[in-house]
Amino acid sequence: MLPGIDAIAFSTSKYFLNLEMLAEHRNVTYAKYYSGIGQTRMSVFPPNEDIVTVGIEAARKAMVFVEDKNDVDILIFATESSFDLSKSAGIYVHNFLKLKEDCRVFDLKQACYSATAALQLAKSYVMENPRSKVLVVGSDIIRYPPGSSGEPTQGGAAVAFVVSQNPRILGIEPYFGVHTYDIMDFWRPAYLNEALFDGKLSAYNYLKSTDICVERYFKNSNLEISDINHACFHAPFGKMAIKANNQSLKCESIDQTLIYNSIIGNSCSASLFICFISLLDHLKSDLTGNRIGFFSYGSGSVAEFFSGIVSADYRKMMSTADNQAMISDRFEISFPEYELISGNALHDFDRYKNIGSVTLAGIDHNKRDYRTVSL
Ligand code: CAA
Repeated sequence: MLPGIDAIAFSTSKYFLNLEMLAEHRNVTYAKYYSGIGQTRMSVFPPNEDIVTVGIEAARKAMVFVEDKNDVDILIFATESSFDLSKSAGIYVHNFLKLKEDCRVFDLKQACYSATAALQLAKSYVMENPRSKVLVVGSDIIRYPPGSSGEPTQGGAAVAFVVSQNPRILGIEPYFGVHTYDIMDFWRPAYLNEALFDGKLSAYNYLKSTDICVERYFKNSNLEISDINHACFHAPFGKMAIKANNQSLKCESIDQTLIYNSIIGNSCSASLFICFISLLDHLKSDLTGNRIGFFSYGSGSVAEFFSGIVSADYRKMMSTADNQAMISDRFEISFPEYELISGNALHDFDRYKNIGSVTLAGIDHNKRDYRTVSL
């Protein structure tokens, strides 16, 4: 049996901005957003939610499927939205999940690629330690300067998955195609809250990396395009994934992979895996034994194409109704409120609802105060 993903879940903010509102206030035709870039809403994070609180919520949902949490020997927190350059965000998750003390915890960074790096590291670890499990949390919130071309692609979410030797969702195959190339297409200096980017260059390098990685994957695996049943592409915005699919694999199910991302926005490290959840939640046919291709792209840049085989038990491991309820139960915020939140002008931590049971109650002496709340 191939090692891989044994449980998977995601979480996002309780609040969203309708991109129709953004289009109106930015004097852009809404069709450019929903048709041109493939996005209709974006998750907006109030002051009481951050990469840790949504990360805990996603991890809590994935861990429901783990019989003995003491089997988790490593927790990897993959993010490019760190608020602390020293302490790992994963330690807060470890604490609220009450994982055992002899568990390694660390953060991993390489733009949107980091959760894929974590998956590959975790896979190697469980192959050497068959009784162990590794919990990976990919959590990001992305902000662009107001009025910039990146603004309608903002968003955020966390994914959590458990990697084990006998996965009930997806076995990861040993084939891959990797491409690393030094380029300034998207970056965020430690002293800035908003990303800097060259949008056209980033889209160009994403597509070029797709070609290179897919070609290397087929060379390494001796497989052919027809051997890939479905594919998930990192989705900074839906149209980017569609373009990459059109120029490479031409899989028919691409729309089903983008349903959650089109209303969450870019969730960076979580995005590729939320595409996978979206596919499993929305494709009606039985995927057992199907080969899924995955294209991961992290600006800067590292890209990888890899594949996995869907396990027979995958349907029992999905929380489709909960995922859909989480999305449909979100609250729409007004444009002025969006501006307040994104301008960091509001520090009213108690005013907003949480998506899960942990809130950021405040920041005191530069220490983040996370607390359990009743829902
Ligand atoms: N109706 C329908 N379509 C319309 C339209 C209308 N009224 N007006 C414009 N469009 C179409 C355009 O024709 C274009 O389509 P094509 O790309 O197929 O030609 C599309 O809408 C976008 O229009 P523009 O190219 O003019 O849009 P833009 O320059 O304002 O923004 C972007 C596009 C530069 C990619 C922008 O979204 C951006 O800067 N995004 C942030 C960076 C990013 O996400 N890069 C992706 C690769 S990097 C990565 O993947 C890492 C990561 O997560 C950040």
